[in-house]
Amino acid sequence: MLTTPATRYRSFPPVQIPDRTWPDRQLTRPPIWLSTDLRDGNQALAQPMSIAQKQRLFKLLVDIGFKEIEVGFPSASQTEFDFVRQLIKQDLIPNDVTIQVLTQSREPLIRRTFEALLGAKRAIVHVYNATAPHFRRIVFGKTQAETVELATAAAQLIQDLADEQPETNWRFQYSPEVFTSTELNFAKEICDAVVEIWQPPAGLDVADRQVIINLPASVEVSLPNVFADQVEWMHRNLKGRDRITLSVHNHNDRGTATAAAELGQLAGADRVEGCLFGNGERTGNVDLVTLAMNFYTQGIHPGLDFSEMDAIAEVVKTCTQLPIHPRHPYVGELVHTAFSGSHQDAIRKGFAVQDPQGIWEVPYLPMDPADIGRSYEAVVRVNSQSGKGGMAFLLERDYGLALPRGLQIEFGQVVQQVMDVRDRDVQSSQGQSSQGQSTEMSGEQLWQLFQQTYGLATTGTRQYLRHRLEPMPDQSDAAGEENQRIQVWLQDNASEAPCLAGTGNGPIAAFIDALALPIQVMAFEERSLTTGEGAEAIAYIQLKATTTGQIRYGVGIHSNIVTASLLAVLSAVHRLQLHGQCPFQASSDNAPAPDHTAITP
Ligand code: KIV
Ligand code: ZN
Repeated sequence: MLTTPATRYRSFPPVQIPDRTWPDRQLTRPPIWLSTDLRDGNQALAQPMSIAQKQRLFKLLVDIGFKEIEVGFPSASQTEFDFVRQLIKQDLIPNDVTIQVLTQSREPLIRRTFEALLGAKRAIVHVYNATAPHFRRIVFGKTQAETVELATAAAQLIQDLADEQPETNWRFQYSPEVFTSTELNFAKEICDAVVEIWQPPAGLDVADRQVIINLPASVEVSLPNVFADQVEWMHRNLKGRDRITLSVHNHNDRGTATAAAELGQLAGADRVEGCLFGNGERTGNVDLVTLAMNFYTQGIHPGLDFSEMDAIAEVVKTCTQLPIHPRHPYVGELVHTAFSGSHQDAIRKGFAVQDPQGIWEVPYLPMDPADIGRSYEAVVRVNSQSGKGGMAFLLERDYGLALPRGLQIEFGQVVQQVMDVRDRDVQSSQGQSSQGQSTEMSGEQLWQLFQQTYGLATTGTRQYLRHRLEPMPDQSDAAGEENQRIQVWLQDNASEAPCLAGTGNGPIAAFIDALALPIQVMAFEERSLTTGEGAEAIAYIQLKATTTGQIRYGVGIHSNIVTASLLAVLSAVHRLQLHGQCPFQASSDNAPAPDHTAITP
């Protein structure tokens, strides 16, 4: 890059329009949409679409709800010509849809364009010529007068040929190419001259014979507010504005096409031309999906239907052979996904209180993914950035586990350890094959790790076999609670261990008594895990080893709530390192630590 870019590039001069009104306006209704996917979008493809691909995309555009579709440049190639003929001859254009075709301002091309349109019920003929000073000077060697002459001669020929084909309901569109770099006075002069030629036939209401003046940012060269000033200037100064549909056609060279098209509407544009997902020359045409969804998320229906966003994206990708970036607004694979723990936590809280019929207010999600046909599956994904929030979200959503906060913190640390090991493995294998190792953990993998950590699916030493609980009506504790006596049988490897017996003011207290271990119950919670037949209870207990001060959670799941709590106690005892004091801990000091990293990636 140059150290002094001013020697090569000039800053764009401001427009003198101090009484501009667009900054105080609001967008309250969508524009007329024109899709140019089949023309501008197609022209930008390394491999232009086949007729079959164009037909598929045309049908998609119709299904989305476009009423104006630029279908091609019929004088440019035989495929383009044949596609237009096929649409007309096979009657593939719905009655409420108008096709548009592009032509340069050259007689043979205009004639060929009209041949292509023979028999169309309705059509917009879109003619353009280059008006920007560097194009006039460098590319065409024409003066301003010669440039106007070219445009008006083309406009006149279009009018004459249309008059020869009265069976078609014609509309005409003119684009001063690279409007953004054209002197505003000259852009007005040439547009006025063209509009002057395209007079509505006598007796026809002006509303029925609107002329379209399209202002292309063929190359985006300024800030979007400057573009808005240019549009407002034209809007105010064009002759016969009441019979002009003012259109904008933004390219995205500076990455601000969306903003420019939106500000252009504030400044007076009635219509927007663009492509789905921003396909088009160089950096693309303005993305109509983003524009439409921007209306939608302001509570204004755009008149286009993206309820099946992913299916739409698939068709577009197949037809254009172009990928869509995972962070592309509204459609990218990752745009409704949070990896960061604080975001996930906020989203989880948002979902918990979101009224299904109310105003959407889930933090970090500007829209409900369900509105564009997406599930909530991808909203939270867990990696090493995620902390406890994402893990808790996935376990609750996929397995119905509402983990107590303390357990979230404890299990979050286990998850973090596994993720850190995975991150290291993936980083050290970068450049080599990572053997499919992912730094992300799915809900299923979390559940596997949870079961492994809390001994829910394992058969270690001394597993629970059965219990018997009896009331002791003649005994009560200090608070007057009736005591209970418990007998618990545990499995000792292959054989049954001697029965443990104890008493207490409830099954847990009785079991702790039976275990005769230096442990104390810190917290206990029990919930139902599933509902209906086969309902199961989940018990969470937090125990403290009084000798070491160590605190661990245990979890038990069972259809019987007492059994679930006994299992939770056993789970926590297994996790506490009781240093030989526990009769059924396989020598705690030597017990192998669970191999969390073995969770299948
Ligand atoms: O970008 C452009 O200038 C065009 C015109 C033909 C409208 O696509
Ligand atoms: Zn263009």
